[in-house]
Amino acid sequence: MNILLTGGAGYIGSHTAVALSQAGYELVLLDNFCNSNPSVLERLQKILGKPLHCVEGDVRDTSLVTKTLREYKIDAVIHFAGLKAVGESVEKPIEYYTNNVQGTISLLEAMELVGVKKLVFSSSATVYGNPQYLPVDEAHPTGATNAYGRSKLHIEEMLKDVANSNSAWKIICLRYFNPVGAHESGLIGEDPGDIPGNLMPYIALVASGKLPSLNVFGNDYPTPDGTGVRDYIHVMDLAEGHLAALEYLSGYSGWDAINLGVGLGISVLDLVSAYKKISGRKIPFEILERRQGDIGECWAKVDMAYERLQWRAKRSIELSCQDSWRYICSNGLRKNI
Ligand code: NAD
Ligand code: UD1
Repeated sequence: MNILLTGGAGYIGSHTAVALSQAGYELVLLDNFCNSNPSVLERLQKILGKPLHCVEGDVRDTSLVTKTLREYKIDAVIHFAGLKAVGESVEKPIEYYTNNVQGTISLLEAMELVGVKKLVFSSSATVYGNPQYLPVDEAHPTGATNAYGRSKLHIEEMLKDVANSNSAWKIICLRYFNPVGAHESGLIGEDPGDIPGNLMPYIALVASGKLPSLNVFGNDYPTPDGTGVRDYIHVMDLAEGHLAALEYLSGYSGWDAINLGVGLGISVLDLVSAYKKISGRKIPFEILERRQGDIGECWAKVDMAYERLQWRAKRSIELSCQDSWRYICSNGLRKNI
């Protein structure tokens, strides 16, 4: 089966490429490298022992996407391409709606034209807004507090309409919780560019001495140690979730949204301790005010993923720290710090 990965050179896309290729799928990556580096292709080749097809271009270029779908006889698409920084989305909403929403419309137009009707979409737990109950299941009300989250919600709704329009469409929205870690080879991982906004890459830079200390955003949440609690999922578990979703798509029709998480809440201080133990480094931290727009806790109910996809996350938070640390030690982080 031939699969197109839009945004396939990015953090989650590259790890998914490994899982899919090793399972025997033929892949084509389409990426404009606005948030990734072409060198990831050589790294993927090292891991897989063979080159991957890659088309450099923008998912909003409908004729390029159409040509790619035809030329490589694509059977299904996994749509990772998009912008993902919450803070930036508040400052540049138009960029976020163009890239994410318009990008998806362009992809759907090309898919319709060529008759490719299987799609897995990268959604996010951010569509649940501030959780009303925990663990968060797929029936939890949705809402968004920023342009990034709203772009994901708009896309989910749009995909639902498309699936309702014709039973040939098979669409799954995967709602990722907090992806962390890296491939065990240390060759690919998360390279956030500037100062990371997310917790684990920040901790990694503090452990490596590139940043002096971690700012812990609040210790007055109603959580066991007062710091924010999240559901951190190893990126290779997440990658395998895509494999399971593709297999599920074969015998299915319609639209579904499924959580991909571990089902376990971990606090900021828990993660600091785990990383400290694995790296053997000091991780100084300072308690600051809560980060604006942050939620106290969020973790997933994961039963639907098991029932529908027969998939469950199996890697521990210690392994996530170990793989992240290996990646940092073998590469540093390449940009701007
Ligand atoms: P990433 O930035 O590492 O990867 C996205 C890739 O898409 C990059 O390689 C980028 O160059 C490419 N891209 C962006 N816009 C494009 C366009 N218009 N045309 C072609 N390529 C384009 O991000 P990621 O962490 O791998 O996330 C992948 C997807 O998962 C995104 O849609 C993101 O919103 C979603 N997601 C990520 C997280 C997370 O914490 N990483 C959580 C929930 C959902
Ligand atoms: C962020 C995004 C969310 C996205 C998710 C996964 C925001 C508001 N939300 O959520 O849309 O889906 O990442 O990529 O950005 N923390 C610190 N110090 C830091 C960084 C984080 O204490 O330097 C704390 C946060 O307050 C939070 C936890 O660590 O309690 C996790 O933060 P982060 O990694 O940014 O993820 P989310 O807040 O879940």
